Amino acid sequence: MRTKRTFRLEMKHHRRLDKEPLRSVYASMTSQKEPKKLKVLVTGGAGFIGSHLVGGLIKEECEVSVLDDFSTGKLENIEHGLSQPKLRLVEGDVREPQKVKKAIGDSEAVFHLAAITSVPYSVAHPDVTRDVNVKGTLNLLEASLNSGVEHFVFISSCAVYGEAEHLPISEEEPTRPLSPYAESKLEAERKCREFYAKHGLRTTILRPFNVYGPGMRNDQYGGVIAKFIERLQSGKPPIIYGDGTQTRDFIHVQDIVTAMMMVMGDEKAAGQTFNVATGIPTTINQLAQLLTQLLDDEKIKPQYRAARQGDLKHSYARIVKARNSLGFEPKIALKQGLLNLIT
Ligand SMILES: NC(=O)c1ccc[n+]([C@@H]2O[C@H](COP(=O)([O-])OP(=O)(O)OC[C@H]3O[C@@H](n4cnc5c(N)ncnc54)[C@H](O)[C@@H]3O)[C@@H](O)[C@H]2O)c1
Repeated sequence: MRTKRTFRLEMKHHRRLDKEPLRSVYASMTSQKEPKKLKVLVTGGAGFIGSHLVGGLIKEECEVSVLDDFSTGKLENIEHGLSQPKLRLVEGDVREPQKVKKAIGDSEAVFHLAAITSVPYSVAHPDVTRDVNVKGTLNLLEASLNSGVEHFVFISSCAVYGEAEHLPISEEEPTRPLSPYAESKLEAERKCREFYAKHGLRTTILRPFNVYGPGMRNDQYGGVIAKFIERLQSGKPPIIYGDGTQTRDFIHVQDIVTAMMMVMGDEKAAGQTFNVATGIPTTINQLAQLLTQLLDDEKIKPQYRAARQGDLKHSYARIVKARNSLGFEPKIALKQGLLNLIT
């Protein structure tokens, strides 16, 4: 029997799929025509990746709202934009439905990045992680469905793959999450697919690999690039856990921003999942060598420590799907991206 609610959702479903899709922000960036001034919500907009996206959207004349609780994000990341009428800040938690509703307002598109992002933190606090990353996403999806949102882009993570059997890792690779963080991202992905399949909300899932660039975290939960740079700049050797032959796929934050903008409003992206990466494996030994060269400190040799439990051996992506469907091509080579960071 159809309940009132399922009927309402079915009606919404039909209305939504009949609607004209949003024009891609990227298409408007590259066309000669006046860009459409999209209204966009960025959750986690004060964080590392979110603040770069906010900057990119404002440049494209979008009207941007940010929902952030500043747990790891910083006001200074978006302060420059707050002087402009195009940026609205809602301070609050994605777990609070009222705050989420307020933040969505009349947004046409949502980029959902707010999350607990640290794997070690998630191991110590699995319940909070699940609450923020899954319940928070569900709040966003429900509020988007009940408002005028046309496209919902969820920023997941390559962590959902765990230790992959096939390399490079394609979107078809079975998922084997190895931490509460990865599990929460996978569950949030399922919710996004469900809202697309059952309710017709256009959702797209992006799985970034290792993102680096200006403003990345350099606290205890920061990534390997931040840690190596910090140690090398204070004259200390980088510490490598294991033999350093483990691989990662490092992608510059500007390339991630480009991918996010390309996906927005692209009809082909609705209901799809894309890796966002370079497709190039770099070993941790190569990374250490590159940084010591760039910092002109080749006398400094890395120190090796026992491999850490749970560290992945190999993680690099196949990016054919994003390339073919979206025309995505990463532009910033690792050497160039690192050089920009340290000079
Ligand atoms: N940095 C990477 O290498 C990487 C790789 C894959 C996926 N991701 C994903 O990209 C997104 C952004 O990551 P980032 O590296 O910019 O991390 P970040 O910690 O800098 O950004 C997360 C933002 O979310 C906010 N936030 C956290 N909990 C919140 C809550 N309950 N309510 C409202 N806001 C909250 C934080 O204050 C912060 O501004 C995350 O979803 C992360 O899982 C990042």
